[in-house]
Amino acid sequence: MDKLKSIYLLFIMRNILILGFGARENAIKEHLKPNIVHRLDTEDFSSIKQFCVDYNIDLVIPSTEAYLCNGVVDYLQTELPTVEVFGPTKTQAKIEGSKFFSKSLMKELCIPTAEFLFYKNKEKILKYFENFFLYLSLNQIVIKYSGLAKGKGVYLPESYEEALEAFNNLYENNKNNWEGIIIEKRLKGPEVSVLAFCDGTQALLMPQAQDYKRIYDNDKGPNTGGMGAICPVNILDENELLEVNHHINMVVQHLNYKGIIYAGIMKTTTGIQFLEFNCRFGDPEAQVILNLLDTKLLEIIDACINNNYIKIKWKSKHSAAVILSHVDYPHSKLSEYIRINEEPLDNTVKIYEGGMQMIDGYNHTKGGRVLTMVSTSNSLQNSLRNIYNNAPKITYDGVYYRRDIGSNYKPYQSS
Ligand code: AMP
Ligand code: GLY
Repeated sequence: MDKLKSIYLLFIMRNILILGFGARENAIKEHLKPNIVHRLDTEDFSSIKQFCVDYNIDLVIPSTEAYLCNGVVDYLQTELPTVEVFGPTKTQAKIEGSKFFSKSLMKELCIPTAEFLFYKNKEKILKYFENFFLYLSLNQIVIKYSGLAKGKGVYLPESYEEALEAFNNLYENNKNNWEGIIIEKRLKGPEVSVLAFCDGTQALLMPQAQDYKRIYDNDKGPNTGGMGAICPVNILDENELLEVNHHINMVVQHLNYKGIIYAGIMKTTTGIQFLEFNCRFGDPEAQVILNLLDTKLLEIIDACINNNYIKIKWKSKHSAAVILSHVDYPHSKLSEYIRINEEPLDNTVKIYEGGMQMIDGYNHTKGGRVLTMVSTSNSLQNSLRNIYNNAPKITYDGVYYRRDIGSNYKPYQSS
């Protein structure tokens, strides 16, 4: 892109469409202001196309994995070639959409990842379970659905019975579109999320973030989409970060990947291991990371789309996020809307609406992850204090949030 065009783009108002409708999408929307930003959550591609035409959309940002894995980028690039789209194509999005694809790619590119087996055939899986009864009893494995599972595809069974139950759940929930399972070696160590903006040739890393995936305090209970996050964290040292950058660059170059890439990494005693790749921003990682951004988000997206060099600046602040959910999450949602009562919040915190709906002038919810409360300040402790002082001001039947976000955070010790 020539210099004139990039300067021009900085000064015009653009019509942007975000595909997806949660707290993460609201954080992205906030960081694209003052442009005109719309959101849509229909899965029907022709309705998306019509919306782009009706509202003169200049740029589409598919934010949820389902759009990307179903090929919305390919579709829009073919149907509306003048509209820009920021995100990976259907093939590239397989790094998230198919764990088998992702693990095989990691093996091919020598990216460190847990040893794994892939099974599609139900009888073979059950045979494996019989043969490896001992391993299964010794909680040494992780069972993952290979396809998309909305954050409900990973089990860490503690016994043979739990392993069987995990498999049966995965099979029952996904049998109409069965893509098989990955059985992988269980690793131990602190986890960190490393996200990057990608322009097809390189990955520009964002600050390290940590999210809290389990539903209960002290990382107990089932995995969720994420119950809180903090950023920045210092889990990986400089060399480990260089290694991570190198591996992500390999993926980006191998796939000509454009968009956001998300690497879930575990720091084990024998080195870093990649647990997964996602093809989008994390939720709730986006809510904390974007609040530290000191370069315009749209400028970065333009640079990635047009292969321009950009130096991204980050604020030296600390951001924390806590999700207010419903006690039934992640198992079920409510059948009816219930009212949310809100007292005024301090200006040290902001909320990004997730599962909320305005009815008769009041916010309501059907449960799930209801909202994300975020604070950004000069220290992690202050940000967390701000959130926990304000969280009790939002109430509804069955309100639930973790009380320990950020409290167990330990930076790496440099020697
Ligand atoms: P994934 O969607 O693959 O990142 O898995 C979700 C969560 O499951 C991760 O954030 C980890 O907490 C846990 N997990 C996944 N793979 C492993 C593994 N090989 N060893 C231990 N825990 C894992
Ligand atoms: N926070 C985890 C995810 O977005 O996948």
